[in-house]
Amino acid sequence: MRTALVVANWKMHKTVAESLAFAAALGPALADVRGVEAAVAPPFTALAALQNALAGTSVALAAQNAHFEKNGAFTGEISVAMLAELGCRYVILGHSERRALFAESDAFIARKVRAVQAAGLRPILCVGESDAEREAGRTFDVLRSQLEGSLAGADAARASELVVAYEPVWAIGTGKTATSAQAQEVHAAIRAILRELAGGLADAIRIQYGGSVKPENAAELMSQPDVDGALVGGASLKAADFVAIVKGATR
Ligand code: PGA
Repeated sequence: MRTALVVANWKMHKTVAESLAFAAALGPALADVRGVEAAVAPPFTALAALQNALAGTSVALAAQNAHFEKNGAFTGEISVAMLAELGCRYVILGHSERRALFAESDAFIARKVRAVQAAGLRPILCVGESDAEREAGRTFDVLRSQLEGSLAGADAARASELVVAYEPVWAIGTGKTATSAQAQEVHAAIRAILRELAGGLADAIRIQYGGSVKPENAAELMSQPDVDGALVGGASLKAADFVAIVKGATR
């Protein structure tokens, strides 16, 4: 049985003060919620404040990105050790915005996956097809090549710590969501590919759905057998909405 994982991906939203206000509402609201894991991925600037504010709560901390080198002349980048020091348990990698806007390739992402695993943190690897790719019937080919490329050289022994987020690009920030049947079909296919790569450990890998997840559709999406939580953008910015989505993921 996989415990569902629901992650708030704030993207480039919230100052430190706004992050602290969110944490003050979140901790108590989730105090009695069992059977689901929640995490918040704020901008890097709010990680330290949230590490303190969420200490003693069940809410984990995630980063939105990391560089694969340990240190060096990489202006503007953040290493995995820096994130570990701030108590991050998860690192989101290969988000479609990073792939599209910052030209991150599968090979580049694979180096990050390896660095995150080597430091004992858990990658949340994002994959997903565009509208045009789905229309052209290429969804499963695209996912296979993203998974194989981004997981090249990954530590198979740590496979059960890996999280994959299926985020169809056409559903991100658009208000369009995959139906629960569409999501389940793709999640099952992703798990089959993961089984080729990681054998029986694939059954322990959590596969999140992401793309316009809201309180109204969360429970239905996460009732599917291979949908093990959600990566939530827009609806994670309001504590009450995020709490409702987390509660909808309880198993
Ligand atoms: P959304 O974003 O929930 O606003 O669609 C999801 C994501 O990009 O992780």
